[in-house]
Amino acid sequence: MEINNLEQFADQFSTLLKGKPEWPDLLKNGREMLSQLVSNPNWFKPVLSKLALDDAFLKSQWHSIDPNDLQIYRSPEKLFTVRAFIWEPNVFYPIHDHGAWGIVGAHINQIRERKFARVDDGSDSNFAEVVQTADATLSPGETTYVLALNEGIHQMQAVNNNTSVTIHVYGSPVRKGFINYFNPHNNTARRMYPPSVEKKVLAIRTLGSIPESWAEDVLNSVVNSSESEFIRNEGRYSLIKLKG
Ligand SMILES: [Fe+2]
Repeated sequence: MEINNLEQFADQFSTLLKGKPEWPDLLKNGREMLSQLVSNPNWFKPVLSKLALDDAFLKSQWHSIDPNDLQIYRSPEKLFTVRAFIWEPNVFYPIHDHGAWGIVGAHINQIRERKFARVDDGSDSNFAEVVQTADATLSPGETTYVLALNEGIHQMQAVNNNTSVTIHVYGSPVRKGFINYFNPHNNTARRMYPPSVEKKVLAIRTLGSIPESWAEDVLNSVVNSSESEFIRNEGRYSLIKLKG
């Protein structure tokens, strides 16, 4: 059945996932569905209109890690989300990984995607060496995909001085809470969190740079708390730094 809007896409993609397809079939069928969705120029227009004109809609937006990431659909069974990413010209968007697989379609204007492979052993949480493996420009209707964690590192960039929109479908995450930004110039990885926990993480990292016993006590409390694993891990990294 033809897909002309987000509701039709969500229905058909949900049916696809509930059939528990193997990854090659999920990818092939999912890309075909997403290609149909992003080839239709009409369904996304009301989202832009409401963002520009409706402040209640604006305030209801999900607080994402990346400020240019709009969540436009979440499956009730938490099987997948659909996001729209807005890419401005002349803005540097970092190389990053993902907590889940994702299928990506160009919707408004062209988008350049560069893919990267991680070539270090991953043993240092702040060190990462990435090398470029692909460089392609997608036109509206064309799709690409990423895998979770180190198998899906990429970077997106607007082209031709136009603001671009891409539509992304993400599966349920195998790693929750953060994504990595990679800097190939100094071989660093930085864990990026949503605004709801970013200040907590910044405080934990600061404590890791204060070699005093009270800071160590606070970090031990973080590590032994009932916080999410990614927060307790930040506490562990800071304790290692403190004792290093
Ligand atoms: Fe991405």
